[in-house]
Amino acid sequence: MDILKISHISKSFGSNKVINNLSFSVPEHSVFGFIGKNGAGKTTTMKIVLGLLKSDEGEIFVNGEKVSFGQNETNRFIGYLPDVPEFYGFMTPMEYLLMCGEITGMPKKQVKEKSAELLQMVGLAEAKKRIRSFSRGMKQRLGIAQALLNSPRLLICDEPTSALDPVGRKEILDILHSVREHTTVIFSTHILSDVERICDRIAFLHEGSIVKSGTLEEIRGMRRGNGIAVEFLEPEAATRFLGLYGDGAQGEETNVTVYDREGNAMERIMEVLLHNHISVQRIERLEPTLEDLFLEVAAR
Ligand SMILES: Nc1ncnc2c1ncn2[C@@H]1O[C@H](COP(=O)(O)OP(=O)(O)OP(=O)(O)O)[C@@H](O)[C@H]1O
Ligand SMILES: [Mg+2]
Repeated sequence: MDILKISHISKSFGSNKVINNLSFSVPEHSVFGFIGKNGAGKTTTMKIVLGLLKSDEGEIFVNGEKVSFGQNETNRFIGYLPDVPEFYGFMTPMEYLLMCGEITGMPKKQVKEKSAELLQMVGLAEAKKRIRSFSRGMKQRLGIAQALLNSPRLLICDEPTSALDPVGRKEILDILHSVREHTTVIFSTHILSDVERICDRIAFLHEGSIVKSGTLEEIRGMRRGNGIAVEFLEPEAATRFLGLYGDGAQGEETNVTVYDREGNAMERIMEVLLHNHISVQRIERLEPTLEDLFLEVAAR
């Protein structure tokens, strides 16, 4: 089942159309990477899903129920970590979670147990200090614990790793990966390596529309066989090779890139090298990276 279904939503701020006929679905128990550069419309989309912003057109369903702007019915299925989470600095993490639980009307005993369990999970069980002394990574981990307090079916995190160093990012990603058994995770980001690490599905948002989406494998496959890198021992060999190979190869110094349009470039390279007794340092099929795809998408 799709835990989230977004169908043809559009949203303008004044004359600026920031979401344009956007549709996509998120199957249950996936980790869904929502990728887009600054201003693509990621936060706006999330706020519409949460009923915090009104879309001009289209519908959204969370766990099969329709989202209505200004009502928070469907938010009982959702945990949300905003891009810049705000906390009361004078509280300890436990005090903060207890307060959050109280606001949402959870029974006291249950909040206590759940809070202790979540603080353990995000590695803050021993952190008894006030939140104001927390590092960014600690705050982000506390934010995830808070978002998971009501055991949501859908966890929405807006750029949870953007402000963190590699260690802090890895901690957050590990946590998001570990909760997938209990909840579906959507997180927005522009850090492609984070997506490659934990997502099974991704969607590229560009100027308010999805321009590419699918499983990680499908997305990678879109550019498979794009090029072959050949590194020569000296520049003269590269120049000779370029002359012999003809169209489809280019390079400078000792490095040549061959574009594999027909799917037979590897054989042709071997032939040219063998017949002309040219030796090489290295031949490598270039794996398309998400980075390439992102740049391709962003350049439209
Ligand atoms: N309340 C608002 N009023 C007017 N324009 C807005 C408002 N909120 C967002 N926008 C505009 O909508 C566009 C999309 O913004 P949004 O915050 O959704 O992008 P984003 O993908 O989350 O970007 P970032 O990576 O910087 O967080 C931007 O051009 C932004 O200026
Ligand atoms: Mg944003």
